[in-house]
Amino acid sequence: MTEAKTVFFTGGAGFIGMHVIPMLLDRGYNVRLFDNMFRGDRDKVAELASTGRVELIDQDVRYGAAVHQAMKGCESVIHFAAVSINKSQADPYESIDINMVGNHNVFAAAADHGVRRLVFASSASVYGDPRKIPMHEDDPLHPLTPYCISKRAGEDLLDFYQRRSGLSWIALRFFNVYGEGQKTTAYYTSVINHFVARLKNGQPPVIDGKGEQSMDFIHVHDIARATVLALESERDNLPVNVGTGIDTSIATLARILIDAVGADVEPQFNPRDVLVARRAADTTRAREVLGFEPTITVEEGMTNLVKRSMQ
Ligand SMILES: NC(=O)c1ccc[n+]([C@@H]2O[C@H](COP(=O)([O-])OP(=O)(O)OC[C@H]3O[C@@H](n4cnc5c(N)ncnc54)[C@H](O)[C@@H]3O)[C@@H](O)[C@H]2O)c1
Repeated sequence: MTEAKTVFFTGGAGFIGMHVIPMLLDRGYNVRLFDNMFRGDRDKVAELASTGRVELIDQDVRYGAAVHQAMKGCESVIHFAAVSINKSQADPYESIDINMVGNHNVFAAAADHGVRRLVFASSASVYGDPRKIPMHEDDPLHPLTPYCISKRAGEDLLDFYQRRSGLSWIALRFFNVYGEGQKTTAYYTSVINHFVARLKNGQPPVIDGKGEQSMDFIHVHDIARATVLALESERDNLPVNVGTGIDTSIATLARILIDAVGADVEPQFNPRDVLVARRAADTTRAREVLGFEPTITVEEGMTNLVKRSMQ
């Protein structure tokens, strides 16, 4: 593998990474995938490796020496390896090890090797329960779980290595990512799956309260585009929201999925008090810094997802 334009990509064998790698190959990069395959897809990785331009280092970000050694010769870094928000609540020790120590191992190695750019997968969860929407990058942060705390701390660590060693970075605050290849453990993915499963059985989706709680659903293809743009953008050293700016309520989601399945039902509302949390990204900075515009609407993305699952 030539070293000239190799991206060191941690956690690239996961859901989002599998959508980013083909775009990187299209743009002429080679990829050194660093993943312990805890959740990675070995078949897909083998398929990519058969191009001769993707190499898997089956290793763990918790081991700083392994990260440092494997990064040698890479010109840029994408850092995605992490364990999820749910798992971080169940096992904070593991979460801090992988998400906090792992972040530091990757950032310190990148600073040491003098890479051109590091792109970090942060998360909209750094905002906690937002006081207003849309959420802007300069809003106060209230990370609520070890996962969210490590994302915020990751951004602060990047700032440290920028000041200390001139590391160039962008932290992408991904909103509610959905699309092909996603595991079903995220809260909102389980809502999507639950609704679709009922609809396929001819049953209506059941919604707690009025279904006013909302999310900013963004398709994984757009997330992958934003990641590649961040690798190449002229501006750096700042967090950037990656969402659509549109808050889709659970009631609207149910309607979109009913139409996608083509079911002849109406959603059922379960009257009860529900905490109404709403989420939407301020997308101004993504436009200015990355030149990023989402291309897939929630209606289109969810409809395609449902159609694929019915094939
Ligand atoms: N999916 C979302 O909705 C979402 C939202 C916000 C932020 N993010 C962030 O984006 C990134 C990618 O998310 P995803 O949905 O593709 O996650 P994923 O769980 O599908 O992929 C994570 C990858 O990291 C690898 N990994 C886990 N622990 C590791 C370790 N100790 N060493 C090396 N590799 C390890 C896994 O094997 C997997 O391939 C993550 O950092 C995640 O926190 C995702």
